[in-house]
Amino acid sequence: MHDTKYTIFFAALVCFVCSIFVAGSAVLLKDLQDANVLLDRQKKVLDVADLVEEGQKLSAIEVNALFEANIQAVVVDLATGETVTDIDPATFDQGKAAKDPATSNAAEENAAKVRRVPNNALIYQVVVEGELTAIIFPIEGAGLWGTLYGFIAVGPDLQTVKGITFYQHKETPGLGGEVDNTRWKSLWQGRHLFDEGGRIALSVNKGQAGSVEEDPYHVDGLSGATLTSRGVTNSIHFWLGEQGFGTYLKAARNGGSI
Ligand SMILES: Cc1cc2nc3c(=O)[nH]c(=O)nc-3n(C[C@H](O)[C@H](O)[C@H](O)COP(=O)(O)O)c2cc1C
Repeated sequence: MHDTKYTIFFAALVCFVCSIFVAGSAVLLKDLQDANVLLDRQKKVLDVADLVEEGQKLSAIEVNALFEANIQAVVVDLATGETVTDIDPATFDQGKAAKDPATSNAAEENAAKVRRVPNNALIYQVVVEGELTAIIFPIEGAGLWGTLYGFIAVGPDLQTVKGITFYQHKETPGLGGEVDNTRWKSLWQGRHLFDEGGRIALSVNKGQAGSVEEDPYHVDGLSGATLTSRGVTNSIHFWLGEQGFGTYLKAARNGGSI
């Protein structure tokens, strides 16, 4: 039989060794985790740019090569809509910028429940064989269980949707989680963003939408997931609206450079 002191000492020693092990692995694996996050983000950009097939297996080197060859990251000043040249898009962290009061502003109350808007934001231009084929905008907003983070790709006319994808969300698989469903995502292609008055008209229906030709501004709702569907609509309206890329879009549509 061991005495109480020995038992406490032994338990403390086990805790100490385990904590060193856990903290050590967190530190050692941090670079690998960051690399995997970046790789996943690049894959999503390539996916929404329609440069890879959904589920297509690509090595990290292939993803990187495709990204380097076809995607140009650009930092945009949301207030002026102009390109920011003194920030390196490769190291710019929009999420971090949105949290820092020095590089962001409190958002006006909005349905997407976005709290802070960064002064600058990252977009991706898809340039295939020298031709601009799409611009990819980051979007985010509240779903039912948490924030949905994704990208929407729009053609060079800044009107026709090329694709949508989400890289992070907490929605329920089979319900709101159907935002990842390939068939549902394909319904977005060819839909229109703005109505004739220049207002954002694109939204997710409650229920079915018509074909692109007869119903260009609507996409089928996710069944049993009206709240997630609304979250997707709200995210698009916020980020492509006045508080997001609205100024950039207006300037570009009025003949400014994209
Ligand atoms: C366990 C559980 C998980 C749910 N997950 C989601 C979800 O991810 N997204 C969503 O919009 N609704 C979800 N709902 C349903 C919502 O509570 C709500 O009923 C639904 O959004 C209404 O959509 P409907 O009008 O299409 O039925 C969930 C409900 C339950 C009980």
